[in-house]
Amino acid sequence: AVVSIDGERVPPERAVVSVFDRGFLYGDSVYEVLRTYGGRAFEGEEHLSRLARSAERIGLALPWPRERLSAEVARVVAASRPAGPDEEPPAPDAAPWNVGERTVRLVVTRGSGELGLDPALAADPKVILLALPLQAPPLAAYRQGVGAVIVGETAVGRPREPSAKTGAHLAHVLALRQARAAGAHEALTVDRDGFVTEGASSNVFLVQGGAVTTPPLDAGLLPGVTRAVVLALAREAGLTVREARPRPEALAGADELFLTSTAREILPVTRLGDRPVGSGAPGEVTRLLHRRFRARAD
Ligand code: PDD
Repeated sequence: AVVSIDGERVPPERAVVSVFDRGFLYGDSVYEVLRTYGGRAFEGEEHLSRLARSAERIGLALPWPRERLSAEVARVVAASRPAGPDEEPPAPDAAPWNVGERTVRLVVTRGSGELGLDPALAADPKVILLALPLQAPPLAAYRQGVGAVIVGETAVGRPREPSAKTGAHLAHVLALRQARAAGAHEALTVDRDGFVTEGASSNVFLVQGGAVTTPPLDAGLLPGVTRAVVLALAREAGLTVREARPRPEALAGADELFLTSTAREILPVTRLGDRPVGSGAPGEVTRLLHRRFRARAD
């Protein structure tokens, strides 16, 4: 791993943050997760725009201008490629387009200070970047699809500031815990009104009669960078696209379901709970969109 703290490269074993840091104490931080293709950050500007929006939403003044953030992303990526001798070889079941690629996690915490919730107590915001080998689903997950479960917000709590990417993750952690207990890859959350919003770390799409539906941004979800790319690709492909809030029954009765996120790209969901989705295999529209996504990314 390559780690940078406040612009200084730090060996991973010495990359530590204070116990007084508000990111640790209160989840008082914002972050982004980017990935590379051919060693170049994908949709880097979109991620930095979202970071700025997340920071604004929680009233955190980013300590660096955007150009410096962008340059630091490029710097940690360059420093982490090619793989060093201590890096694990790629998993034999990795999807070929993911081999050798990197994930960059960019975290800005409000910093530390006297204990207390009041953000005015914070001094010294921290900018932390990690560049790591990309962790992405294996090729078999794209060929066969994965399982998902639906969990109620009442059981796991409502994500704080769902439209901002902040360090307050407990609702997502608990949702994923339920999914993993059921042997599923992802948890899809239903809000208090009974509508499906998003996954614990992904956005969700359903395909019914050839039309593509995903919940709208005002449903209380993270505006996924991948979600926006996929919406554009679906429109370019001439598909009918709707942004509407689906009920769990609509997902259960869909022809196809898929997840989108930076590391997953477009990942078919072929089981929902203990039932197959559609034919139980990745559907035609999902595969078409993933082909178009791959062509766009490479
Ligand atoms: N998660 N919804 C939530 C709650 C997320 O945390 C994420 C991303 C997404 C998809 O967004 P994008 O397409 O921009 O990656 C949707 C990141 C990858 C993470 O926390 O690891």
